[in-house]
Amino acid sequence: MRITDTSDRWWKNAVVYSIDVETFADSNNDGIGDLPGLAQRIHYLAELGITVLWLMPFYPSPDRDDGYDITDFYNVDPRLGTLGDMVEVIRTAHDRGIRVIADLVINHTSDEHPWFKEARKSVDNPYRDWYVWRDTTPPDTSDKVVFPDAEDSIWEKDQTTGQWYLHNFYKFQPDLNIANPKVRDEIFKIVGFWTQMGIDGFRVDAVPFILETTGYTAAEKRQLGDPQDFLREITSFLGRRTGDGILLGEVNIPYKQQHTYFGGDRGDGLTMQFDFIGMQSLYLSLARHDARPLVKALTQRGSFPLGPESQWANFLRNHDELTLDKLTDKQREEVFAAFGPEPDMQVFGRGLKRRVPSMMEGDPRRIRMAYSLLFSLPGTPSLFYGEEIGMGENLAESGRMAVRTPMQWTSEPDGGFSDAPPDKLVAPLPTDGFSPEHVNVADQRSDPDSMLSFIRRLIFRYRQHPELGWGTFEVVDQPDHAVLVHSSRWEDHRVVAVHNFDAGGRRVEFTLTDVEPGTTLVDVFGDERLSMDDGRIELTLDGYGFRWLRVQQPGDHRLW
Ligand code: NOJ
Ligand code: CA
Repeated sequence: MRITDTSDRWWKNAVVYSIDVETFADSNNDGIGDLPGLAQRIHYLAELGITVLWLMPFYPSPDRDDGYDITDFYNVDPRLGTLGDMVEVIRTAHDRGIRVIADLVINHTSDEHPWFKEARKSVDNPYRDWYVWRDTTPPDTSDKVVFPDAEDSIWEKDQTTGQWYLHNFYKFQPDLNIANPKVRDEIFKIVGFWTQMGIDGFRVDAVPFILETTGYTAAEKRQLGDPQDFLREITSFLGRRTGDGILLGEVNIPYKQQHTYFGGDRGDGLTMQFDFIGMQSLYLSLARHDARPLVKALTQRGSFPLGPESQWANFLRNHDELTLDKLTDKQREEVFAAFGPEPDMQVFGRGLKRRVPSMMEGDPRRIRMAYSLLFSLPGTPSLFYGEEIGMGENLAESGRMAVRTPMQWTSEPDGGFSDAPPDKLVAPLPTDGFSPEHVNVADQRSDPDSMLSFIRRLIFRYRQHPELGWGTFEVVDQPDHAVLVHSSRWEDHRVVAVHNFDAGGRRVEFTLTDVEPGTTLVDVFGDERLSMDDGRIELTLDGYGFRWLRVQQPGDHRLW
């Protein structure tokens, strides 16, 4: 094992866990989660085994897009605590071996940000060019809006000057103009500020929109040059300031373009990107009980090889809608029918507002199979808080807020999240079969059969087998479409994973190539040892069953 690889490129087999501070733990009982509350729960995260804590926006904000509308990039929202509290969180996390990354939201600001308040005053205000303006009536852009329930154009007329400003998201989120060198300088300063505070990297919000040059004048486009160079500059700046800081990008576009966002073969762009295509294909596979859509996506993904620094981040859920925008209409309907048939389970015509356990109708076999896949697929797994205990959603909440309910620590109605009166809580908890009475940390913590214990084991085994994060992925041929057999290989390590997408049990047969006589397969979650006949293996799987098998060559006496 090469020391430089395993220690420096720590993100290659990290486990990411995202939280919104305001819904995690409330320390002063005002109903809003806060940084001191989070600091007290770091030991829980350490026990879970995660290695990267991703903090969703915690900056001062009017909170009209759950904090993605920022009014000050250099501070903490006073409802959540102070900069001092943030330092305590970071220090405590580091003490437990957990890195902390922050959401970097630089595509836009809030319209209440002082820069925008200045900018909209007059066409010659010094801040005018920090945003993107046009002075002629914009064309119909209703097909470009991200939130079709709220917006019908990406341009908004500003009454004071009669010009229109660009807003790819809500109209209260004006887009920053990155062709302006002053804006770019400010972005470096923001990155520098938080790294100085101890932040280890960033989840970069809405990357394709940052680099999009819609509305830029020809002169601005010339001045900006290749927008990808701006990403490269942030990456290298972060590298200079931190040594090993990462940029984890939110980039929901086809793999070919994502390859460019990684910085192509050089890999000097974004360090990591979420795999939105793989995620959507995974749900299609689950809905169809057929591994082929997932295999197709992963094969396509593999046709754009990554540079040594780059890595995929896999996920099943995040804080947004479970978007199915990259599926065909027919495929999306199949996933809707399987996992969210009712209108109140869907949002924006493209996504689901549910978490995994409710979509799987609470079937523990299927839920666990989905998470086993997440942790065994090539890349770095990323979790959204509460997934580890099987939290559900509150469909009464509108849109994406349905999955942003408070963390459920205990069986009390408020989930032990806060002692504030129920009407003061930042968001209402589920009251159905996924309420705190049924789903909470306290009950699961010492139960070896709980979801929490299961996820903890997955994390531990994932970390123990670096080939899962680092390795070369291949699909092992076998005839059953309901089954995925894949292997990850790195140096002389190899794990083979077998997953059954069907509710019925299966008999699976496959042959591993390149194995010496006498090689055995050791069950990673048990101690069973399976012998092979000339690389050929036969095993049975229960409905939605899975196995992780470590390939042990003769003479290999390692414990794992
Ligand atoms: C993507 C974030 O994940 C989402 O929650 C937000 O609304 C938009 N970017 C705008 O910042
Ligand atoms: Ca509080």
